[in-house]
Amino acid sequence: MITIKQAQIEDLKKVQKLNHRIMFRNKEFDPDIDINFDLTEKGADFFKVALTNPDGCFFLAYHKDKLVGYANGSKKEVYIFRKKKYFEVENIGVIPEYKGKGIGTKLLKTLLNWAKRKGFNRAYLNCYIKNKEALVFYKKHGFEKIDVSLEKDI
Ligand SMILES: CC(C)(COP(=O)(O)OP(=O)(O)OC[C@H]1O[C@@H](n2cnc3c(N)ncnc32)[C@H](O)[C@@H]1OP(=O)(O)O)[C@@H](O)C(=O)NCCC(=O)NCCS
Repeated sequence: MITIKQAQIEDLKKVQKLNHRIMFRNKEFDPDIDINFDLTEKGADFFKVALTNPDGCFFLAYHKDKLVGYANGSKKEVYIFRKKKYFEVENIGVIPEYKGKGIGTKLLKTLLNWAKRKGFNRAYLNCYIKNKEALVFYKKHGFEKIDVSLEKDI
C-alpha cells in the first residue's frame, strides 16, 4: 500500500538523500552535472526553496514507513505571448527497487490534481533527451514534445 503525503521542511535531509538515490543516472544524460550537488549546502538550499515555495507543492510517496519516491512542481513563468497558466513538473522519481509499480503515476496524478485545483491549466516539464524511460513515462501520461534545447561549450 502506497501513501502520498505532502512534504514538510523537516523532511529536508530525507529528501536530499532520496534524490541522491533516484537521480544517479543523470550523469549518463548530462556531461556537465555535479552528481553530488544534492548532498551539498547548495543542494540543501535548492530543496529548501522547493519545500517552502508558496506557488508550488511537494509530495512524498511511502511504502509503509519507507520513503520510496517524490514529486514536486510549481508555477512556471512562460513567454508573454503564451496564453495558459503553466505549472512545471520540476522533479519526479522513484527509488530503483520500487520502479514499475505505478508509484510514479500516482505521484504525477497527485501533482497535477493539486495544480488543477490551484487554477493551472497547462503542465510543462523538461527531460533529458537520453532519459528514455522518463520520456516513455511522460508520453504515456499525455505529454508531447514542444521544443528542443541545444547546447555547446564556448
Ligand atoms: C520515470 C519514473 C518516475 C517512472 O516511475 P514508475 O513508478 O517507475 O512508473 P510507473 O510504474 O507509474 O509507470 C507508468 C508507465 O510509464 C512507462 N514506463 C515507466 N518506466 C518505464 C521503463 N523503464 N521502460 C518503459 N516504459 C516505462 C510505462 O508505460 C508504464 O506503464 P505500464 O506499467 O502500464 O507499462 C521512474 O522511472 C524514475 O524514477 N526514474 C528515475 C528518475 C527520473 O529520471 N525522473 C524523471 C526526471 S525528468
